[in-house]
Amino acid sequence: MELYIDTADLSEIKHAMTLSILDGVTTNPSILSKQGVPYKQRLAEINELVDGKVWYQVVSENSAAMVEEALEVVAILKQPVIKLPMGPESLKASKVLSSQGIQTNITLVYSVAQAMLAAKAGASYVSPYVGRINDIGWPGLQLINDIVRIFSIQGLQTNVIGASLRSNQDIVSVAEQGASAATMPFKVFMQMFNHPMTDSGLVQFLEDWKVYQHQN
Ligand code: G3P
Repeated sequence: MELYIDTADLSEIKHAMTLSILDGVTTNPSILSKQGVPYKQRLAEINELVDGKVWYQVVSENSAAMVEEALEVVAILKQPVIKLPMGPESLKASKVLSSQGIQTNITLVYSVAQAMLAAKAGASYVSPYVGRINDIGWPGLQLINDIVRIFSIQGLQTNVIGASLRSNQDIVSVAEQGASAATMPFKVFMQMFNHPMTDSGLVQFLEDWKVYQHQN
């Protein structure tokens, strides 16, 4: 399963990448807009730190402009994934970009029908927003399950990336529903390493070892 952190914060990215587990970094316009630096500068900085895919979401509103914006970013990144918000113009742009061998992600996916169209448009990934669906009282995990199942029945190769995930249990849950990737905040990624029983167990092992060393 591919794992990504959803951030443009360089200190988070540096820390996370040293752990050598992640497949890259995803961003979105809200995340990049909070960094206080020009977005191309930040993407270049992220690109230097990341051994893996770097995802950028276009903000243009028609397909030709989306393609142009995407190509500018593709020129900066070693392994780009171009995110396009679900809609007809994005699907047109996805088709053009994917025919040029550029990986695309249709984001803001909230239904199986949207996911099916994204797959038809050659998207490499679709992003159902699990947390935001749960926020409005709909079952986010069920959407992951439905998309994975229908892609499998239809033989569609598009990957499902669980997005808008808020806890380490969410990562486990989307994995269980068959998502082949997940993106999460840095804090959630770090939570995945932790369990209080691991901490207390390690303290006990080290204490026992100290006693043993004093006796021998
Ligand atoms: O970047 C896409 C998605 O992961 C955003 O999550 O927490 O803003 O709903 P969130």
